[in-house]
Amino acid sequence: MTKILVTGGCGYIGSHTIVDLLDNGYEVISVDDNSRSSDTILDSIKEITGKSVLNYKVNLCNVEETKKIFKENPDIQGIIHFAAYKTVPESVNQPLLYYRNNMCSLFNLLELSQQYKINNFIFSSSCSVYGEVTDLPVTEQTHLTRTKSPYGNTKKVGEEVIEEFSQVSDVKFIALRYFNPIGAHPSAKIGETPYLPPQNLMPILTETASGKREKIMVFGTDYDTRDGSCIRDYIHIMDIAHAHTLALNYLFKNPDTQKYDVLNIGSGEGVTVLELIHAFEKATGQKINYELAPRRSGDVAAIYANNDKIKEKLGWTPQHSLEDMMQTAWAWESRSLV
Ligand code: WQD
Repeated sequence: MTKILVTGGCGYIGSHTIVDLLDNGYEVISVDDNSRSSDTILDSIKEITGKSVLNYKVNLCNVEETKKIFKENPDIQGIIHFAAYKTVPESVNQPLLYYRNNMCSLFNLLELSQQYKINNFIFSSSCSVYGEVTDLPVTEQTHLTRTKSPYGNTKKVGEEVIEEFSQVSDVKFIALRYFNPIGAHPSAKIGETPYLPPQNLMPILTETASGKREKIMVFGTDYDTRDGSCIRDYIHIMDIAHAHTLALNYLFKNPDTQKYDVLNIGSGEGVTVLELIHAFEKATGQKINYELAPRRSGDVAAIYANNDKIKEKLGWTPQHSLEDMMQTAWAWESRSLV
């Protein structure tokens, strides 16, 4: 079997991607220092797939500790790099923490990929690289304006570093720009497990539904959108996970392909915050207590993807509806309510 190293394998997108990789015949090892996750999620992955995944509890900024992983696993043939800090408000308050962690870990992995001749590398990027956009939907050719946070800039600079490195190395790269990942594995055995109190919409919504929160604030209803609230492109976590498997398959099947490429992963549909809340209520039967509130700084009014390129290159299409996203997110949140 082809062995893949997944960094950040105990995180939200990392864990769901490991399930999809295992279901598609790959062998997986994880590296995750569990500073913002728990390796107990690997027990849940074993329950889902029947397969064990070894996690190296290593900080990727420690190059000597990271090098040991590659020495012990000379048969690694691909890397999917998720491990990074990703809380936008925290990045605004602690920019150096984000630049040091997200960039040093990437630099170490790039050097080790070249040194150990691992020529297939998938980079976890983000729609945050687009910054404020006016021409929608965004394509991979959309001009990147200044990002709204240090977090987003670590992804934008990460892409630039990878593209330049790809020209002088044997490693081939695909950067995947996620829009808004939500939902959970249909088994409800894994899902989004925020390390810090969540700032993003979906866990706050489900915590409001479960009674952990009294209400949800809708940040801004005076935007120039159809109902005044922000528009985002929500995409099921399992669709995002499968895109990683297809991207790896592509690199293995096309060894002479271009050295660097970038793909949007989004549903292609824009949904407003109020529409999402009402979709959740309809899909789950749970009434949501929400309050209209002022805008949140750093928010863009609207962003959603043109996903033609990933459809054409990888044959990927979203398989899960907004209703699926709502129902699986609620099943995950309410698993402990029974
Ligand atoms: C969505 C909308 C909020 C909370 C995130 C990540 C970004 C990228 C995409 C990974 C906004 C509104 C939120 C609340 C609200 N992911 N909202 N009340 O900001 O689009 O970006 O996903 O790389 O890195 O930060 O997601 O879920 O925070 O906000 O009204 O209590 O929901 O104002 O309009 P965002 P979000």
